[in-house]
Amino acid sequence: MPSFRPLLESDFELIYPIEQAAHPEPWSQANLLSCFGPRYLNGLMLIEGRPAGFYISDLVAGDSSLMNICVHPDFQGKGLGRALLKEYLARSKARKAEAWFLEVRAGNQRAIALYESEGFAEYCRRADYYGTGPDREDAVLMSRLFDF
Ligand SMILES: CC(C)(COP(=O)(O)OP(=O)(O)OC[C@H]1O[C@@H](n2cnc3c(N)ncnc32)[C@H](O)[C@@H]1OP(=O)(O)O)[C@@H](O)C(=O)NCCC(=O)NCCS
Repeated sequence: MPSFRPLLESDFELIYPIEQAAHPEPWSQANLLSCFGPRYLNGLMLIEGRPAGFYISDLVAGDSSLMNICVHPDFQGKGLGRALLKEYLARSKARKAEAWFLEVRAGNQRAIALYESEGFAEYCRRADYYGTGPDREDAVLMSRLFDF
């Protein structure tokens, strides 16, 4: 069973290996470290005490943007990404979030299927937003405007 707690800046050493293992193009250390402060709502998921996933989001005037969510590859495909997303939605709702936003690579069907099944819907696309040259990929912008 996963457990959850707020993610602190001092947890950086715990989460950066997850970031590097989970994402094909991981965030830089500086980028991750810039996402701590009053407007951020970040969470850590533990399995038997081991860090297994995390999310980074912000919450401003009822709007929450999910900027990063990832599960270590050792733990993927076991329902934990869904548990982590649900935890984020519940925690941000308890902090008065009323609308949720995110963007995801168009080719990330796993994440898109997860988001759709938790009430997100595409509202816009940005062509060739990610990558360079032939590896460019659209960004899919998704929102969840009502509580399900
Ligand atoms: C996206 C991610 C968080 C999902 O975590 P996970 O633990 O693997 O997901 P779960 O096991 O909870 O599965 C949740 C849903 O994802 C979808 N999914 C999972 N594996 C899938 C696959 N191989 N193909 C398609 N969809 C898949 C399904 O909708 C699944 O729900 P279901 O099993 O009830 O049908 C995880 O894969 C990850 O960290 N990926 C790398 C980082 C990333 O892409 N983050 C999102 C963009 S920022």
